[in-house]
Amino acid sequence: MRAVVIRRFGGPEVLETAELPEPVAGAGESVVDVVLAGVNFGDLEVRAGTYRPPRLPAVLGAEIVGVRRRDGRRVAALLRDGGGYAEVAVARDAYTVELPDDIDDLAGAALVEQGCTAYAALVTAGRLRPGERVAVASAAGGVGHLAVQLARALGASAVAGTASTAAKRQFVRELGADHAAEGPEALPALFPDGVDLYLDSLGGPRVEAALAALAPFGRLVSIGHREEPAVVAVDALTRRSLGVVTLWMRQVLEADGLFAEVAGRVLALAGEGRLVPHVDRVVPLDGVGGAHEAVAARATTGKVLVDVRAAGC
Ligand SMILES: NC(=O)c1ccc[n+]([C@@H]2O[C@H](COP(=O)([O-])OP(=O)(O)OC[C@H]3O[C@@H](n4cnc5c(N)ncnc54)[C@H](OP(=O)(O)O)[C@@H]3O)[C@@H](O)[C@H]2O)c1
Repeated sequence: MRAVVIRRFGGPEVLETAELPEPVAGAGESVVDVVLAGVNFGDLEVRAGTYRPPRLPAVLGAEIVGVRRRDGRRVAALLRDGGGYAEVAVARDAYTVELPDDIDDLAGAALVEQGCTAYAALVTAGRLRPGERVAVASAAGGVGHLAVQLARALGASAVAGTASTAAKRQFVRELGADHAAEGPEALPALFPDGVDLYLDSLGGPRVEAALAALAPFGRLVSIGHREEPAVVAVDALTRRSLGVVTLWMRQVLEADGLFAEVAGRVLALAGEGRLVPHVDRVVPLDGVGGAHEAVAARATTGKVLVDVRAAGC
């Protein structure tokens, strides 16, 4: 099978298309003929060796859509140990969901990691209730653009998103956000009574501004960081009854039945047309390096996918 492999950690130049033996399924796993693999920000960090570095050589890629060989079902799966940038992958059955007929492959691949992360951050960790005011950091990104739509669909009374460029902020408004701003510093002027739930993926100094924008009993949900991790003083939170919670998809996958429930809700909302993933680009296996460069350059909006069967350039 063709796959994108790394033999050392580094920049996009370490991504190499190669012919490899097909992986073999163990207990509780299934072989999937991959159609599309998702590119996630975490893949860039794994490639660089800065996040859960795998044993080398390694095939990257943490999410796929494809056809399960055992029963021919169309499935989407998260891959705990990578292996998605390939024509064939092995997926744990507990990390796999069957795709309903009304969800095409592109949508399934855009939703399985980033849609489930957005939903679990807002609902499972953030305990979003109808009528609450929600702000989403990096709202034009893969997780962010789905979180904006989910907040709306789940009954938020107002939604704001932050993004770094005017074009991205326009995209965020088109997703249904009431407001789009460059950063959380702008939120107090937009929400004088505060925001109830802030979904953060940036960390760093902006966390302080995000906390300052929260209403009493507001929650900040952290799903990652691009800057240094923020250090938050509990006393400062107590003064306004604020909460900081975190979400890692691993716990969603490991908790009995939670991934199936979250994925089921996300796919149902997409089936109803209330959650519409935006696909920025689909690249062939040979194009994964360029896709990584585009994500690192913040030049993408929504989802980046790999068509593993497409002919390369
Ligand atoms: N906790 C979990 O289980 C989990 C699961 C999935 C993803 N995540 C995390 O959630 C975050 C978003 O993931 P994603 O897949 O949606 O990412 P993405 O689509 O690649 O990017 C999201 C946005 O991040 C912003 N950004 C800020 N600083 C950046 C930088 N230094 N390099 C690149 N982009 C930067 C960019 O928006 P602007 O240009 O508007 O700033 C970009 O559009 C990541 O931190 C990821 O690791 C966590």
